[in-house]
Amino acid sequence: MSAAIEVEGATVRYGDVLALDEVSLTVAPGRVCGLLGTNGSGKSTLFKTLLGLVPADGTVRILGRTGAAARKEGLIGYVPQSEQVDWAFPVRVRDVVMMGRYGRMGPRRRPRAADREAVGRALERTRLTDLADRQIGALSGGQRKRAFIARAIAQESAVLLLDEPFAGVDKRSEATVTELLLQLRGEGHTLLVSTHDLAQVPHLCDEALLLQRRVLARGTPEQVLRPQVLMEAFGVHPEEEATWTS
Ligand SMILES: Nc1ncnc2c1ncn2[C@@H]1O[C@H](COP(=O)(O)OP(=O)(O)OP(=O)(O)O)[C@@H](O)[C@H]1O
Ligand SMILES: [Mg+2]
Repeated sequence: MSAAIEVEGATVRYGDVLALDEVSLTVAPGRVCGLLGTNGSGKSTLFKTLLGLVPADGTVRILGRTGAAARKEGLIGYVPQSEQVDWAFPVRVRDVVMMGRYGRMGPRRRPRAADREAVGRALERTRLTDLADRQIGALSGGQRKRAFIARAIAQESAVLLLDEPFAGVDKRSEATVTELLLQLRGEGHTLLVSTHDLAQVPHLCDEALLLQRRVLARGTPEQVLRPQVLMEAFGVHPEEEATWTS
C-alpha cells in the first residue's frame, strides 16, 4: 500500500536559517509516527512543510497529493503548537471544533445535522462537552489542546498532524489524549505526533523520527531511543532525565 505521508529531501530556509536539511520521512497508513528533537530542531517546520504552509525544496506527498492540495481537500487535521494560536480570538469551544467541518460546508458555512453530530461526538471524546460554550481563551492550556484535538477529530481526516499535544498537559489528560490517539489509529487514521515526552513514545508510537535540522535517526521507538542516539541529540542520558519539557 502506498504511504500516507511521504517526504523526500525536504529543505526549508527562513532567510539565513536552515530549518530543515534534506529531511525524508515515510509513514504508512494507520501508523503513529513520533517526531522527536530539541527546541528549534525543525519539528513545527516539518508540520508546516507537510501542510504546504512554508516554501520547501524536495517533495511532499500526503495521500498522493501535494501538502497544500491535501490541506485544501480537508485530508489533514492539524493541531498546532499552542504558541502559534491567537487565544484572544472570541470564539467558543464548540465553534473551534465546528471549524473542522468547514471544508464540508458550502461557502455560507451553515452547519447541518451531521456537522453538529460530529462536533458533539468530538467534544465527548475529548471530554469537553461541559465546556463547549466557554470562550476558547477561558480554558486551561490542557483543555485548549483537547479543543484543537476535538477540531481535528470532527474533521474526520485520514491524516492527523499533532504538534506537541502533550506539552503543558497533566498526567491524567496525557493518558486520556494518548488513549484517544491510539483509538484514532485503530480507526485507520495516520498520525504524526511531535513530543518532548520520550517516555510516551514506545507506548504511543509504531515508529519515530529524531530530527536535528536533518534526520538523526528513524526506525522503531527502540532504535531511535537508544542511549547513544539520545546523547547525540539531547546531550543528556535518558536515565538521568526521562522527560524533556518545552
Ligand atoms: N518564521 C520564522 N522565521 C525565522 N526563523 C524561524 C521561523 N520559524 C522557525 N524558525 C527557526 O527555524 C528553526 C526550527 O524551528 P521550529 O519551530 O521548526 O522548531 P521546533 O523543533 O518546532 O522547536 P520547539 O521544540 O521549540 O517547538 C529554529 O531555529 C527557529 O528559530
Ligand atoms: Mg515546535
